[in-house]
Amino acid sequence: MPERAIGVFDSGVGGLTVLRALRQHVPDESLVYLGDTARVPYGTKSSPTVMRYAHEAARFLLAQRVKLMVVACNTASAVAVDELIERYQVPVIGVILPGAKRALEMTRNGRIGVVGTEGTIRSGAYDRALQEFRPDIVVHTAACPLFVPIAEEGWSCHEVARLAAHEYLAPLLDKGIDTLVLGCTHYPLLKNTLQEVVGPDVQLVDSAQETAKAVKLRLEQDQLLQSPSATQPPCYFVTDIPDRFIRVGGAFLGEQLKDVKTVVLD
Ligand code: DGL
Repeated sequence: MPERAIGVFDSGVGGLTVLRALRQHVPDESLVYLGDTARVPYGTKSSPTVMRYAHEAARFLLAQRVKLMVVACNTASAVAVDELIERYQVPVIGVILPGAKRALEMTRNGRIGVVGTEGTIRSGAYDRALQEFRPDIVVHTAACPLFVPIAEEGWSCHEVARLAAHEYLAPLLDKGIDTLVLGCTHYPLLKNTLQEVVGPDVQLVDSAQETAKAVKLRLEQDQLLQSPSATQPPCYFVTDIPDRFIRVGGAFLGEQLKDVKTVVLD
């Protein structure tokens, strides 16, 4: 089992921010990544549809004989992670719980903001995760649908990003939040702009980093850490032709993507 890869899936390129964090925190692990690029975005789809996509992605990764699955998409985590944990026999880690836990450690005034896709915000998954541990926590949320195309366009530090961030975040800042969870795998690219807009008194939680730490902990607990000599280069699969994934994904991963294969999910 330890010599098997970790499977990671997202709707497209966003989960590469999680893959990048995994490479920092568990550098000896082999990684298999699936981007469901034929059906991206998940953030605007209904919960039953995202649930179906998540099962198809999970079954694909299990067929690659992975030892652990990471749902590297906030929208899919919000809708499907509990069911995936119940249904499949390998450990499944989503991005919501690790980010929520870190926000609870960071907040001083108990007012936490969460930004994400329409689907993630509508699901109420962050509100539930935060209030389960601390019912007194006040959660203020905002769907920020423009952040995904802005990040993919390479405009994370552009004036367009700044204007959109002001518009989306002003209501949360008015409520006095001191912590902001980046509840979408695209948003770490916008971190500098978002920090500039919220100011130094609001701390940002990068759920990609927190998820990678949670994966490391789980591998240690389950004695599933791979020995360095067995590490394989990452494998990338997408469900549409790979051109756009390769072009846009490099900025998310921090390096050029190579050897991306197209697959059909069923
Ligand atoms: N990766 C998705 C998420 O974290 C954002 C992109 C999409 O809507 O599919 O929610």
